[in-house]
Amino acid sequence: MDAAQPGIFAQGARHHYHLEFDLRPDATPEDVGAALAGLREPAVTAGGANVVVAFGPDVWRRLAPADAPAALHAFQPVGDPAGSHAPATQHDIWIWIHGAGPDLELDMARQIVKSMKRAGSLAAEQPCFVYRDSRDLTGFIDGTENPPVEEAVEVALVPDAEAGARGSFAMTMKWVHDLDAFHALTQPQQEGVIGRTKEWSVELGDDVKPPTAHIARVVIEDDGEELEIYRRSTPYGTVGEYGLYFVAFSADPTRFDKMLARMFGTAGDGLHDRLTEFTRPVSGSYYFAPSLDGLEHVISGS
Ligand code: HEM
Repeated sequence: MDAAQPGIFAQGARHHYHLEFDLRPDATPEDVGAALAGLREPAVTAGGANVVVAFGPDVWRRLAPADAPAALHAFQPVGDPAGSHAPATQHDIWIWIHGAGPDLELDMARQIVKSMKRAGSLAAEQPCFVYRDSRDLTGFIDGTENPPVEEAVEVALVPDAEAGARGSFAMTMKWVHDLDAFHALTQPQQEGVIGRTKEWSVELGDDVKPPTAHIARVVIEDDGEELEIYRRSTPYGTVGEYGLYFVAFSADPTRFDKMLARMFGTAGDGLHDRLTEFTRPVSGSYYFAPSLDGLEHVISGS
């Protein structure tokens, strides 16, 4: 039976590397297949790291029209371009490597970039790491309410019998934090921005949680059902620039759109997410991570 790319769900890797590519306008499906086949060469697959490959909407439609869900669309800018907003920086292919150490990830990233030269060029790269006990650099635990792996499959994968079955819609966004501003807040104020306590990640009670808290904005009910996504974000940074490389998967990409609208104040209720006062996205793309069979078809050209 067809299966999802296992790296979407694989846990435990403390080192991550994200690569985004733009294809040459004249790259053929054969060029793309040959470039991706390079990812299977022994030098790349040795070492036990996970690799997830995903495609921008236009490219996936061109490569595999029958396996492209109708809902697949490019990332659109959100918010006020003159103020708080999320820019769109859509690229063609996103490759996410995660494994045991930065040495292995860098070796793999270099091999992949070399192989991808057959079809395109590197547009953006970002090494990331797990910070302390899975915290964001703000100091808050990130992932508390993430669905456990057994539920994540249903949250993240396109159901069987639909176009793109066992594939997953993905969103990537690089956020740059203003930690000086965030840490200038008292701890109770910081907790009001997130909606959870800092040390143990306990949800604030409805009587104290502001309606502008991050979790108050991204928890959305639709017909009594909570809209869920499966998050795989990790921090990145140097002393000069740091933040969160946000990654999430979903069976339905409109969940991302709805959450972003509520974060950036375009949902029509006049509210925004206070977190956006302390961190800003500098990239935003939507991708489709096909099933293993879907990926294999592109690689083999069959
Ligand atoms: C720099 C950017 C962001 C930071 C630092 C951040 C941080 C956090 C933290 C600390 C939590 C609470 C703990 C947890 O349940 O994981 C959380 C929850 C969550 N975040 Fe974010 N987040 C960011 C961006 C986003 C974006 C862009 C989305 C979606 C578009 C999002 C969706 C969610 C969801 C769905 C939850 C779980 C809410 C719940 O069920 O309680 N986050 N985030």
